[in-house]
Amino acid sequence: MLLELKNIYKNYIQGTMEVPVLKDINLCVEEGEYVAIMGPSGSGKSTLMNIIGCIDKPTSGTYLLDDVEIEKCKDKELSEVRNQKIGFVFQNFNLLPRQSALDNVALPLQYAKVPIKKRKQKAKEMLEMVDLADRVSFKPTQLSGGQKQRVAIARAMVADPKILLADEPTGALDSKSGLQVMELFDTLHKQGVTIIMITHSDEIASYADRVVKIIDGELYEGDAQPVTGGDEHE
Ligand SMILES: Nc1ncnc2c1ncn2[C@@H]1O[C@H](COP(=O)(O)OP(=O)(O)OP(=O)(O)O)[C@@H](O)[C@H]1O
Ligand SMILES: [Mg+2]
Repeated sequence: MLLELKNIYKNYIQGTMEVPVLKDINLCVEEGEYVAIMGPSGSGKSTLMNIIGCIDKPTSGTYLLDDVEIEKCKDKELSEVRNQKIGFVFQNFNLLPRQSALDNVALPLQYAKVPIKKRKQKAKEMLEMVDLADRVSFKPTQLSGGQKQRVAIARAMVADPKILLADEPTGALDSKSGLQVMELFDTLHKQGVTIIMITHSDEIASYADRVVKIIDGELYEGDAQPVTGGDEHE
């Protein structure tokens, strides 16, 4: 199993109150799976994604990522695991505004201490993979939304991570650019990359081979629904 979350709870401290956000989440993902996470706004999807991505730690529970016990890791080990095994894509791209597409894509390789010539070479290959060979020196402001997201995908994958985590990757895109992003995800999935993607769209979720729902901090597989129902905010 590539990823195993057991009895995960996450509470946020709000003043003197403890707010439960994730409640007893159990989730296993095998290498090569393509999973969509759906659920109402505020239900805890991004919170779960941040835990899966080792950006945040659960309040309690155990998380095994590629046989590493994440809750026992120190911050330094955690950032190593994150850099080696995980690529991130966000709704709003999170590109560095003053850097070219090439430099944005090369950034994770700089953290991995890859020599500069090799970094640029690999970043260029990744931009070719996302069909942006003619935009290497463009800055984010000179790119369309769909192009920015393809740069972000190239950056996420440049260090060959096993896992791609995407938090509403098509949320800010028109439908044509969104479909291009889904085609790229399909290509990566066929290459064996494990993908976990948050989406509000049934159409986008249908690209995944498994859908889980988070409702009010609890996780449901497939068609299972809570007996009492969650709040529908949208
Ligand atoms: N840093 C924080 N401190 C306190 N509460 C937080 C924090 N981050 C998130 N929350 C709360 O946790 C709950 C879940 O938030 P989360 O961002 O995971 O929702 P989401 O399912 O991703 O929603 P959306 O679909 O709108 O992105 C929300 O009620 C939010 O207010
Ligand atoms: Mg979110």
